[in-house]
Amino acid sequence: MIPLLNPLLFPPLLLLTLSIQDPTEACSCFPTHPQQQICSSNIVIRANIKSEKVVEDSSSSLKMIRYEIKQIKIFKGFEKMKDVQYVFTELTSAKCGIKLNISDKKNSQYLLSGEISHDGRVFIYLCNFIKPWNKLTRSQKINLRKKYEMGCDCKITACIEKGCYSTVASQECLWTDWLLESTVYGYQANNSACLKYRDGVCKWHNNLP
Ligand SMILES: *[C@@H]1O[C@H](CO)[C@@H](O)[C@H](O)[C@H]1NC(C)=O
Ligand SMILES: *[C@@H]1O[C@H](CO)[C@@H](O)[C@H](O)[C@H]1NC(C)=O
Repeated sequence: MIPLLNPLLFPPLLLLTLSIQDPTEACSCFPTHPQQQICSSNIVIRANIKSEKVVEDSSSSLKMIRYEIKQIKIFKGFEKMKDVQYVFTELTSAKCGIKLNISDKKNSQYLLSGEISHDGRVFIYLCNFIKPWNKLTRSQKINLRKKYEMGCDCKITACIEKGCYSTVASQECLWTDWLLESTVYGYQANNSACLKYRDGVCKWHNNLP
C-alpha cells in the first residue's frame, strides 16, 4: 500500500534511496506510517534472530540471505503460518534487502513484517516495518496487538505541505509528523493508530496521554 504522495513534491531527504553496489539499481521506500506498513504486510512476527546464511535460490539460482529465527509471537499471518523458522531477504540493500543485526545480543530480537510468498516462504524487505524489539515505543507494542489491524480500512495520508488539511476525507487520518516535526518518526508514528469510530469517521487514537 503506497500512500498518495507525489514523489516530486517530497523532500529528497525523506526518500530512503540506497544504491550501494550498482548505481543503476536502487531501493526507494516512501515514508510510511508503521500502521500502513503493518496493514500492507501479510505476516508480522516478533522473533529472535539466530543466524544468517547466504543461500542460493534453487529455481532462479540467485543468491539471497536466509535468517534463521526463533519465533516468539505471531501478530499477523497465523492463518497461513504456525511457526516461522526462516525469513529470506535480498542480498543487497540496493535490491531492498534488509540487514538484521545478529551480533548484537541486546538488539537481536526483532519485530519483522513482510510477505509470505506463493511457495510459503517469508520474505522481508527494507521498506517493511522492521525494528529491534527494544527500539519500538510502548504504544507501538500495544498497537501491534490489535489496534493497527483494526484500522486497516482507514487511509493514512502523509501531509508534507501546509494546506493538505482541507482535502482530508472522513475515512482518512492525516499524518503530519514531517510537517510539524521534520521527522518520519514523530509523535504520530510513535504513538498513534488511525481507527474507524462508530460514526464511520477515521481518527487518530493515542494510547498514552
Ligand atoms: C549492530 O550492533 C552493533 C553493536 O551494538 C552496532 O555497532 C552496529 O552498528 C549494529 N549494526 C546495525 C546494522 O544496526
Ligand atoms: C520516536 O521514537 C524513536 C525511536 O524510539 C525516537 O528516536 C524518537 O525520538 C521518537 N520521537 C518522538 C517525537 O518521540
